[in-house]
Amino acid sequence: MKSTLIQAFHPHPERSRVQRSWLECLSSVQGLTINRPYERYPDWRIDVEREQALLMAHERIVFMYPLYWYSVPPLMKLWMDEVLTFGWAYGPGVDRLKGKTWLQAISTGAVAQDYQAGGFNEFSLSELLKPVQRTAHMLGMRYRPPFVLHGVRQQDEQALQRSAQSLLDELQAEAEPQFL
Ligand SMILES: Cc1cc2nc3c(=O)[nH]c(=O)nc-3n(C[C@H](O)[C@H](O)[C@H](O)COP(=O)(O)O)c2cc1C
Repeated sequence: MKSTLIQAFHPHPERSRVQRSWLECLSSVQGLTINRPYERYPDWRIDVEREQALLMAHERIVFMYPLYWYSVPPLMKLWMDEVLTFGWAYGPGVDRLKGKTWLQAISTGAVAQDYQAGGFNEFSLSELLKPVQRTAHMLGMRYRPPFVLHGVRQQDEQALQRSAQSLLDELQAEAEPQFL
């Protein structure tokens, strides 16, 4: 498997069902590094050098988080502001993250049908994730379609286990397109 960093951003891991089941499944897999900034930085003082070193050491970065107000949880936004800095992550002649893969594993409360024109949430998840997509491309990273579990309240334990296995399968498949 590609060297993979899981950046698990859950503001309340003790209340989590989905993200917790994904993490439990992935924690038994060799070759994955799991980083949990909410647990690591309870005071929100991010160790920027440590986080940048983690990015450098892995080919694929998986941001795992619950959708919060159609966006990322607040510590993930702060992490982006503080870690992905001008002169280190982007800027003239800077290509440290170029070619690395940016993947997201996202859970949402609303069901899939809500995420479309005319649906309750009006916009597709692809539309709502444009700022993140643009950020990845700004860094020269390869943005992959997100792994998504919608309608979390409707999911029983078995469905959660299946989704965790699907996520693991996707990570192990390495079905990356070839750019010739
Ligand atoms: C502050 C907050 C904001 C949320 N915003 C959204 C949202 O914009 N869209 C959505 O579908 N679900 C939203 N949810 C629901 C969460 O995404 C959902 O509970 C979570 O993905 C479930 O994963 P977990 O079991 O790991 O916590 C929100 C939940 C909270 C607490």
